[in-house]
Amino acid sequence: MVQDIAWFVSLGLMGLVAIVFAGVCLGAGTQGRVERPYRGRAWLFSALLLGGLVVAFATLTPWPHEVHATGHAKPVKTIHVVGHQWRWELSATEVPVGQPVEFVLTAADVNHGFAVYGSKDRMLGQVQAMPGFSNRLVLTFPAPGTYEVLCLEYCGIAHHAMVATLTAR
Ligand code: CUA
Repeated sequence: MVQDIAWFVSLGLMGLVAIVFAGVCLGAGTQGRVERPYRGRAWLFSALLLGGLVVAFATLTPWPHEVHATGHAKPVKTIHVVGHQWRWELSATEVPVGQPVEFVLTAADVNHGFAVYGSKDRMLGQVQAMPGFSNRLVLTFPAPGTYEVLCLEYCGIAHHAMVATLTAR
């Protein structure tokens, strides 16, 4: 909800900046005081601005990313995760195969980066675990086996030791 508002406010402000730029651009062209070598630049600037807007709208439409990260499927299991310096506290370590599992994350001290890795060290998904916040991540485990949980946010001297395992069956 708050993200939606922030999103539309950002879009509005970006649009405002674009309109001001376009106005300056057009004004520069109509005053007739633009020196010859700069005429081409005004056109180039307009083309770049237009191109930038097209690229921005084409690439920003899938936002916010959270929709993709969490998916629409109803999770069959919820696991609560707390990041500590330097260990993961998980309410469960067994997950079902082929069905969405929801992780609800927070941290007890500093920011941690909760990341789940499958076979061949392929990352399945990741999200920040932050003190005072509750972040959600929904993952579907494709095959039975052991999955590793690593920390992707440098959180102190033993950051590298923040390893846990999940068993999918
Ligand atoms: Cu926790 Cu790095």
